Amino acid sequence: FRVPSAAFSTFPMPMEDLDLKNRDPVFYELLRAENARQEACITLTASENFISKAVMQVVGSPLSNKYSEGYPGQRYYGGCMIIDKMEILCQQRAMEAYGADPDKWRVNVQPLSGVPANLGVYTAMLKPGGKLMGLDLTSGGHLSHGFQSPSKKVSVTSLFWESRSYGITKDGYIDYDGAYEIAQEYKPELIICGYSAYPRDLDYKRFREIADSVGAYLHADCSHFSGLLVSGLVNSPFEYVDFVTSTTNKTLRGPRGGLIFSRKEYSKTIDDAVFPKLQGGQHNQNIGGTAVALHEALQPEFKEYSKQIIKNARRLADALMKKGHKLVTNGTDNHIVLWNLRPHKLTGSKFEAVANATNITLNKNTIAGDKSALTPYGIRLGTPCCTTRGYKEEHMDEVAEFLDRMLKESLKIQKQTGKKLVAFKKGVDESEEMQKIASDVAEFAKQFDHPGLKV
Ligand SMILES: Cc1ncc(COP(=O)(O)O)c(C=O)c1O
Repeated sequence: FRVPSAAFSTFPMPMEDLDLKNRDPVFYELLRAENARQEACITLTASENFISKAVMQVVGSPLSNKYSEGYPGQRYYGGCMIIDKMEILCQQRAMEAYGADPDKWRVNVQPLSGVPANLGVYTAMLKPGGKLMGLDLTSGGHLSHGFQSPSKKVSVTSLFWESRSYGITKDGYIDYDGAYEIAQEYKPELIICGYSAYPRDLDYKRFREIADSVGAYLHADCSHFSGLLVSGLVNSPFEYVDFVTSTTNKTLRGPRGGLIFSRKEYSKTIDDAVFPKLQGGQHNQNIGGTAVALHEALQPEFKEYSKQIIKNARRLADALMKKGHKLVTNGTDNHIVLWNLRPHKLTGSKFEAVANATNITLNKNTIAGDKSALTPYGIRLGTPCCTTRGYKEEHMDEVAEFLDRMLKESLKIQKQTGKKLVAFKKGVDESEEMQKIASDVAEFAKQFDHPGLKV
């Protein structure tokens, strides 16, 4: 690459060249609508976040144009000299941010997302049909931890490999003793720990003992709490596990992507699994965006941000409990609050519909004791998004007040309409109080900055 650096200034910057409104007005309006929705909503989805303008610029940059199959220094495409530097920088920042010892660990930054990262580990370490064991989806685990229903291999992680799950106790905590018992009988070759909906920290030492008792690999999927891990606010798995995977877009606040950390003796096998076994060209715009997000995560402000995520989650939990609501494990250690609606006899699906009608974004979730994943009695609340927008503890009191108003009105509506969802939704649409809540929420949400490029 030999263009003198002075010539750079003659290249148009991608964002200055943005002309979406004229080129594609239909899509432009949709984009504006989604932007307006994000601004006007209180986002309590635990797995989402708002990336910075800097990260967004990289994601929408010319990096999207470049193919570079292979790894730095060994590519199947020409013109990869700068891409190589970017990928190596991303790797270095990931190692530093997660505190991975370079004498023992390597990182692969190419997985397209969280599921592909987990598939990378299974593909590398298990033969087809090999045995894995993970936290059950209905107990807070992820689809890609081997999920299957009694009648269906729902995830390929249960179709391509044999899977068995461990669960939680009736109090909502991971059932480590139960996991040990299952492992003795099932003899898994790989145990995965990590969660999508669990409000407490993990005991990796305990998981290691279970894995060692049957000679299994131990894999931690830190997708949800990566930002808290990088900030040193939750237990680190690195001392105990063989593999750490993560998405980059949740508490870490990067673009969509995946990471696989592996002990160095397995790193070649992991690299081979990611490319060429599972993927072709990696998404360079997202690797670049991840490098920038990791740089942001290494700044002292990010630690303050992560601390605030937890403070906000605890305050939300306390505020809800003060109003008499029941939470799984009665609180939280992380960014997740699991609200148990069973005492109110209202399903999570109904409350999710109410939230959609009142400018609050959240999702239904199974909780211990649920009979069906389709009609669970839980609601998952998370604080990464609203903390990015600048909410502090006192704002979480207001969020709890909105949630409480929504619930009270929902119960009134359910009394009138009966239990059927369609009739209930109609009742929600016709409720003046729900309309009032929606406009109060939008008014409240708009006072906070919404990061990223403005459209
Ligand atoms: C624990 C965990 N692992 C993996 C994933 C999958 O990530 P993706 O949807 O980006 O593939 C998620 C997503 O929510 C998750 O919560």
